[in-house]
This record gives sequence, C-alpha cells and structure tokens, in this order.
Amino acid sequence: MTHRVGVIGGDGIGPEVVAEGLKVIGAAGVEMDTMHYDLGGDRYLRDRTVLDDATLEEWRGLDALYMGAVGSPDVPPGIIERGLLLKMRFELDLYINLRPFTAPGHDFAVIRENTEGTYAGEGGFLRRGTPHEIATQGSVNTRHGVERAVRYAFDLAVTRRKHVTLVHKTNVLTFAGDLWERTFNEVAAGYPDVSTAYNHVDAACIYFVEDPARYDVIVTDNLFGDILTDLGGAVSGGIGLAPTANLHPGQVSMFEPVHGSAPDIVGTGRANPVAAVLSGAMMLDHLGETDAAERIRKACDRPESLAGTTSEIGDAIVARLADQTT
Ligand code: IPM
Ligand code: MN
Repeated sequence: MTHRVGVIGGDGIGPEVVAEGLKVIGAAGVEMDTMHYDLGGDRYLRDRTVLDDATLEEWRGLDALYMGAVGSPDVPPGIIERGLLLKMRFELDLYINLRPFTAPGHDFAVIRENTEGTYAGEGGFLRRGTPHEIATQGSVNTRHGVERAVRYAFDLAVTRRKHVTLVHKTNVLTFAGDLWERTFNEVAAGYPDVSTAYNHVDAACIYFVEDPARYDVIVTDNLFGDILTDLGGAVSGGIGLAPTANLHPGQVSMFEPVHGSAPDIVGTGRANPVAAVLSGAMMLDHLGETDAAERIRKACDRPESLAGTTSEIGDAIVARLADQTT
C-alpha cells in the first residue's frame, strides 16, 4: 500500500532538511505518494496565501503531512505561525505533540497538549495604542483536552519504563493547575503499574539540566511543553536532533522537527537534517512502517559522528542504512 503524504518544506532551512528526510525514507524502501505544497513565509510574501480551506480539506484525506519549518523574518510574527502551523494543529485536531529525547543519559518523551492553553488565542486588546491599553491572553484548559493528553502519556509509559511526570505550575496557576492535577490523578488510578511524579515547570528546568535520568514520560500543557522541549533538545545533543509528531491517532497527523526555519544559516549547508530524518521515522511509525522507522533511528545513532553538510549527513545516513542490510 502506498502512503499518501503531503510535504510542506516551508521556509529557511525547512526545504533543505525535508529533502534529506525524503531521501532517507526512500532509501529505507518505503514508497510514498507525495504531494508538495508551497506554503510558508515566502509564499505569503508572493500572493498573501497562508493556508486556504481547499488545501486543508485535501489534507484531511491524506495519511500524513511532513513539514520542514515555517517562519520568515520578513513576515510579521504570528501570521504564518498562527495561520499555517497552529491552524494545522487545531483544524486537524492534532491533540498530541510528542517529542522524544534520546542521547547518552537522556531517554524521555514529552507529551505536550497541542490544541489548547495559551495557544488557543483567547484574549484581545482594549484601548490599544493608548496609555491605558490592556492586553489579555487567556489559557483554555478543557477536561476533554487535558484528559486525552494525559491518557496518551500513560498509554505511552506502559510501553516504556512506566513512569509519568506531570509538569505544571499548580502553585500559581491554581485554576488550570487544579484541573490538570485532578485529571492526572484520576487517570493515574487506572494505571496501577505506572508510577507518577509532579514537578513545577521551573524546577523541571533544573532537573532537565542536572538530572534528566529521572524522567520517562512527561505530560504538560501547550506553552510549558513548547519551552521545555527546546530545553530538552539543548540538553540532549542539540535542537538539530529533536523530532516531533503532531498526532491525532488514527487520522492524518503531521511530522516536523522541533527546530525553526533558522534563516540565518539557510543555504550554508550547516542545517542538521537529523531532526527532520527522525521526524520522518516517527511518520513511518504512524504509517505502520515500524520496521523501516526502527532502521532509520538506528542509522541516526551516534549523531556526533555524522559530520558534514546537510546533504552529506543525509548521504551518511543512507550509507548506514545500506550497511545494515548487507
Ligand atoms: C514549535 C514552535 C511553534 C510553537 C511556533 C513556530 C509557533 O516553536 O513547534 O515548538 O510555538 O509551537
Ligand atoms: Mn517551540
């Protein structure tokens, strides 16, 4: 069966790393029917298209979406992020943002709730531009949204070291924190074999640096998860290695590196494609190609020995794949 995959290279280094990801997936022997979508900051600057409804409808019929990175310094902040990336996550209800981190001494996965929190866009201005202006930015937390993220974390932990940590800020965010904590404890009661912990997000930042081995699966809200996963990348070999799955299990889901479009290094060959390649492996898991996914992950082992330009690193991963089968 051929998999129907939409490819969005995006901006900056996005197209460069996605090209390597597709090269590696092909070398792993997985056939995909790819459709390329020219979207992102450059497209917006050309004709003001961000994401039209027809494209979104088309995507609902695909098996997966593979994305590089979006965001351009020439476009005001928020237009592409909200109009393309967050619209994808929200409209396709990709409620799980799964970010695994593996490096020597690091083997944990962050489950970031992906459709709510401060990202929901609740809020607005009053008297904007005056000395009395007011800006509010609310945080939306639903029992349904929190519970499905927490359940996913426990189900994942069952397949791993059976430990889940809730990360929040219950000592200050007493309303949202209370909902998260109660939901977490109620779900935990159904998983007697899984042990649990709770960390405030500020303390978690220290543990990420000083004692990451304490973590197996972490579940947290959208904004804490955004920040913690950049830190997770930084402490476990660099952001150039960190992949993401934006999941709605059983439906079209989207796969992208944690890193951004890095316009400062576009065209230099300095972009590390490993995060995009590993995101491709997560996509293969979603497509049921678990064997190829595992081989690709294995070929990305010891990433520090994968030196060179973006395409040289892609070639080296392909060479490692070839060695596996001989
Ligand atoms: C990420 C990114 C996005 C986010 C931006 C580009 C909107 O930082 O995927 O982590 O904040 O979710
Ligand atoms: Mn981020």
